[in-house]
Amino acid sequence: MEKLSEIKEAFNREKGSVSDLNDLRQFRARYIGKRGAITELLKSLSALPKEERPRAGKQINELKKFIEAELKALEADLKSRQARKELQKDLLDITLPGKFVPPGSYHPVSQVLQEIIDIFVTMGFSVEEGPEVELDYYNFEALNIPKDHPARDMQDTFYVKTETRDDLIVSDVVLRTHTSPVQIRGMEKRTPPLRFIAPGKVYRCDSDVSHTPMFHQVEGLMVGEDVTFADLKGVLEVFVHHLFGPDTPVRFRPSYFPFTEPSAEVDIGCILCGGEGCRVCKGTGWLEVLGSGMVHPKVFEAVGYDTERYRGFAFGMGVERLAMLKYGIDDIRLFFENDLRFLRQF
Ligand code: PHE
Repeated sequence: MEKLSEIKEAFNREKGSVSDLNDLRQFRARYIGKRGAITELLKSLSALPKEERPRAGKQINELKKFIEAELKALEADLKSRQARKELQKDLLDITLPGKFVPPGSYHPVSQVLQEIIDIFVTMGFSVEEGPEVELDYYNFEALNIPKDHPARDMQDTFYVKTETRDDLIVSDVVLRTHTSPVQIRGMEKRTPPLRFIAPGKVYRCDSDVSHTPMFHQVEGLMVGEDVTFADLKGVLEVFVHHLFGPDTPVRFRPSYFPFTEPSAEVDIGCILCGGEGCRVCKGTGWLEVLGSGMVHPKVFEAVGYDTERYRGFAFGMGVERLAMLKYGIDDIRLFFENDLRFLRQF
């Protein structure tokens, strides 16, 4: 009897310092575990005289039940306390103002590029893509750019090293210097009539206020049995009037490209001075916006088209240059510095 009340007293005393489920496990073991106080008491019953055993056994069992009930209540209490703690950890104050995530926007070059694409798609052109790492054949040879043409000069073209022979770097792989190789790839895949544009990145070893080593071009090509220079003029005039406004003056100026004959450069009346003559148009009143011409028969020969049957025109333009003119930007490098004060204006 004495032992029983000692155990009960100890139990009640220790109960208060059980602060988590781990404590509880040890606490339980001390009383009703294999070596626990109650278990030991039950084992010692056999040492009592026979007639005392039932009464003592009953009392021990009562204490055991009391302890078990207490432990159960304690466990429930500890668990709910822990759950409350967890909840508190990610307590959310829904009255706080939300975090502002500013919406992104398209880069000005992407915006102008998309505008250009839309204008040509409206005129029935599809969109074609080609590789930026290109074979010499597509970038130069098939476009009637002979081996000694200045456009092949090491200063302009980035060559990709492919093999070394006798200390001499021989490479037939380049970073494309224009989008014109896509003309060749596009024609190889089709038979006329056809019309497509080819937007994309091009690379030239050049860097100053109006040149960056990488920039964007949009190429265009239309081939058929009765495509004429008048079609070239019509399509490009419509294009310029959409991009720069319907009252923009346009002129075609004779020029030279190895892959077109005749060739023409397209100028628009200077956006900044309205044709009076200023620093940007170098006093001429005109700004050059794109190159164009009738596809050279040598180019048709390279793709196996009948030069008697087909005629075509091609054109190419620099997207950054058009974006600079459209928005009055005087340094091309602004497009690639990622200064938010600049980008946020678009
Ligand atoms: N490929 C020429 C350039 O990069 C542009 C051009 C394309 C000119 C098609 C005429 C015809 O300057």
